[in-house]
Amino acid sequence: MQHRIAPSILSADFARLGEEVRSVIAAGADWIHFDVMDNHYVPNLTIGPAVAQAVKRHTQRSDGSWVPLDVHLMVRPVDALAERFAEAGADLISFHPDASPHVDRTLQLIRGCGCQAGLAFNPATPLDVLEWVIDKVDLVLIMSVNPGFGGQTFIDSALRKIEQARRLIDASGRDIRLEVDGGIKADNIRRVADAGADTFVAGSAIFGQKDYRAVIDAMHAELGEPALKQAA
Ligand code: DX5
Ligand code: ZN
Repeated sequence: MQHRIAPSILSADFARLGEEVRSVIAAGADWIHFDVMDNHYVPNLTIGPAVAQAVKRHTQRSDGSWVPLDVHLMVRPVDALAERFAEAGADLISFHPDASPHVDRTLQLIRGCGCQAGLAFNPATPLDVLEWVIDKVDLVLIMSVNPGFGGQTFIDSALRKIEQARRLIDASGRDIRLEVDGGIKADNIRRVADAGADTFVAGSAIFGQKDYRAVIDAMHAELGEPALKQAA
């Protein structure tokens, strides 16, 4: 299984965001995770489509390939903003099913905009809706903290939910990424991977250190993988 590290720029220096994004890509980021909070669905306020558009210009690797922009919407309502982020250059857009009255319609809307669609599940939210829309989902995002802030502690019950999501994904036979978000560090990433996750969001663990590459390399080492393939 190919593992992906998705640094969350929530913990980056917002005053130097372009430089931060380029640095973390040079350090081996597979995706850039972009946390959108509206001070309504979650008690915090972050960044919008204009910032996504600006960040997008910094997401090309030195070999010319592009790093996917992974937009995590913690907003209500979802639909109008999802369209704005698609226009801004998002590659993947995830939302919380409890934030949309018509989950199936929102998934169709995101895919209709040419993006991959993801569903994000809070620590106390069951995976029930997944059964009914799994044919329209490209990404399942399991929250291992309550959404709203970086730097929180991993909630262990997420491991059981990851296992459950992995079983549902495998049973569907579809190519769906299983991403985990919140409290991921080099010292717990192995447990999360063993539960079945393939994509790991990490904010404070990476941006809280000086050497981003050392952290990402340590994560790959825990996963039993070689470090960055391309030169930085
Ligand atoms: C939390 C966000 C996360 C957050 C993770 O609401 O969705 O993406 O940035 O931060 P860490 O890795 O510090 O827990
Ligand atoms: Zn997130």
